[in-house]
Amino acid sequence: MKAKILVTGGCGFIGSHTVVELMEQGYEVIIVDNLSNSSIEVLDGIKGIVGKAPEFYNVDCLDYVSMEKLFTEHPDIQGIIHFAASKAVGESVEKPLLYYRNNIGSLVNLLELMAEHHVPNIVFSSSCTVYGQPDAEHLPVDETAPVKKALSPYGNTKQINEEIICDQAHANEELRAIILRYFNPIGAHPSALIGELPNGVPQNLLPFVTQTAAGLRKQLKIFGNDYNTPDGTCIRDYIYVVDLAKAHVKAIERMLAKDTKDHVEVFNLGTGKGVSVLELVNTFMAVTGVNIPYEIVSRREGDIEQVWAKPDKANTVLGWKADTPLSEVLASAWKWEKKVRHIN
Ligand code: UD1
Repeated sequence: MKAKILVTGGCGFIGSHTVVELMEQGYEVIIVDNLSNSSIEVLDGIKGIVGKAPEFYNVDCLDYVSMEKLFTEHPDIQGIIHFAASKAVGESVEKPLLYYRNNIGSLVNLLELMAEHHVPNIVFSSSCTVYGQPDAEHLPVDETAPVKKALSPYGNTKQINEEIICDQAHANEELRAIILRYFNPIGAHPSALIGELPNGVPQNLLPFVTQTAAGLRKQLKIFGNDYNTPDGTCIRDYIYVVDLAKAHVKAIERMLAKDTKDHVEVFNLGTGKGVSVLELVNTFMAVTGVNIPYEIVSRREGDIEQVWAKPDKANTVLGWKADTPLSEVLASAWKWEKKVRHIN
């Protein structure tokens, strides 16, 4: 058995896929999740894939007393991957304080407990949202591109949390942090035993597409085709969640091997390829043979026109590459949606 890793938000979409990859590599995993946006059945899915369930605590990272108890019970935790956070952009505009309390409070608690219990390593889930709309000379975007003013409280919590980590790494000699800035994670585990389960009407593109394919939604709305892009729709870097999960294992390995060069390292996690909304929808239809009715509507407020990653640093330094073809990724998302909706 390799090191013991604490995964907060380990029942969520990216968290659960990361737990699977960690366990498959022989790590001992403890999940902390308050199930606010995930379900306990995810543990069965993980068990179905790796053969055993991880240890699970139904605890909110804001609950310092319970978290302290967990750290005391597990003095041998060697690293933390911190996913637990609220992530709905629109909701964060409506309820900013909820986002600031939840996302920032959770990280502050963890960093305090890490210092107190001498846990040195943390991997933090950040987002390409910190770059806003990069200027043309920064496309594709690498880690040196400037961080721009956040467009939502959600995005702001990611920026603030990155700064908190840097400040704490300055103060706490022992701390090592790897900040991973995700582009657009999509897809599901090939087994279809775990996947993405959004609450209510999906805000993200692919879950809306798969739910439309499954008949839950009448038609997809494409937000704008008058952008300055080849087909007029927005461009993103869609990254397979399993590839993304594997990057976390690489980050943990790097920290445990004490290979990190700086107290805080930042990596962009994307494929390096920009895909438009229309390309994604058309590829989905071609791969699955299912028609997706759509209409073009006006732009969505706050949307970025185009952003995709220059993942060279992660490729060379972490020794990681997102290389699953988009067709396979879209097929995995459809397989999962069919399983959830009991469609043959
Ligand atoms: C959004 C957030 C980002 C966050 C990420 C989490 C914004 C501006 N950004 O990314 O900060 O980290 O979610 O997953 O909200 N689209 C449609 N129709 C739909 C849904 C989406 O046309 O029904 C389009 C959008 O306009 C966009 C693309 O699809 O061009 C991707 O949208 P989405 O999946 O919501 O991701 P982001 O907006 O890139």
